[in-house]
Amino acid sequence: MELGIRGKRALVCAASKGLGFGCAEALAAEGVDLLINARSPGPLEAAARDLAGRFGVEVQAVAADITTPEGRGRVLDALGGAVDILVTNAGGPPPGIWTDWQRQDFIDAIDANMLSPVALMQALVPGMMQRGWGRVVNITSMAVKAPIPVLGLSNSARTGLTGFVAGTARQVAERGVTINNLLPGLHDTDRARALDAAAAEAAAIPLEEARRRREAGIPARRYGTAAEFGAMCAFLCSDKAGFIVGQNILLDGGQVNATL
Ligand SMILES: NC(=O)c1ccc[n+]([C@@H]2O[C@H](COP(=O)([O-])OP(=O)(O)OC[C@H]3O[C@@H](n4cnc5c(N)ncnc54)[C@H](OP(=O)(O)O)[C@@H]3O)[C@@H](O)[C@H]2O)c1
Repeated sequence: MELGIRGKRALVCAASKGLGFGCAEALAAEGVDLLINARSPGPLEAAARDLAGRFGVEVQAVAADITTPEGRGRVLDALGGAVDILVTNAGGPPPGIWTDWQRQDFIDAIDANMLSPVALMQALVPGMMQRGWGRVVNITSMAVKAPIPVLGLSNSARTGLTGFVAGTARQVAERGVTINNLLPGLHDTDRARALDAAAAEAAAIPLEEARRRREAGIPARRYGTAAEFGAMCAFLCSDKAGFIVGQNILLDGGQVNATL
């Protein structure tokens, strides 16, 4: 299927690895020029060279912490103009126990996983509305549909973002801009491997056993891949997806046990 976005320009945040990279790769494969971002310059520049080399698109790389105003400022300055597609993403909050989290832990999580995507949308969606076309995909988590006990900070912050998107998506759709959220379940990335390690330590079991137990809880009996995730992101960013507005789309191998 031709997605109709060749020649468009996208900002993909937190994209040197994992799900963000999967989204950047799928957009590059559709002929979209990119600005990708992550904090560590080495892996980021390697990712940019890889995508530009394989797909022949322009790829800018800006090393910056997207969860800080300074980092976002540098990314937005480097964009220097129109962007048609925005994919928001950042690292997830640390696991823990609900009794341990202090006010600052919540503030940090809300800054990273709610207010950063909100700030990026506020900066870039008005231009999309003026031009009459835009796509925003926020990478959130299945935790907004089914809370994950050890990820209470994520459950809280991402649900706030979900509420913001629900209201805002319906205010911008008439100008050709769609905003949707992609909700990953377990995917085989560094983040998932770190959570496997935390689960192994908590249960005093080997890492492989922790992963096997987590896979057993997924009807597909495996973790998802960044490529599968990226393919859905590219479709949501496509010209074909203009009637999908304010949705929360789970990619979880069936793990959330719900009829709707
Ligand atoms: N993988 C899963 O199973 C899963 C499930 C549910 C939700 N999620 C959520 O999905 C998001 C992506 O997860 P992932 O598995 O792809 O993680 P990952 O494999 O650890 O990759 C994270 C990427 O984001 C970059 N990054 C992290 N913090 C950043 C920041 N503050 N500013 C800019 N770039 C940043 C990293 O590069 P640098 O470290 O160099 O910055 C890296 O490129 C996270 O919020 C995660 O909580 C993941």
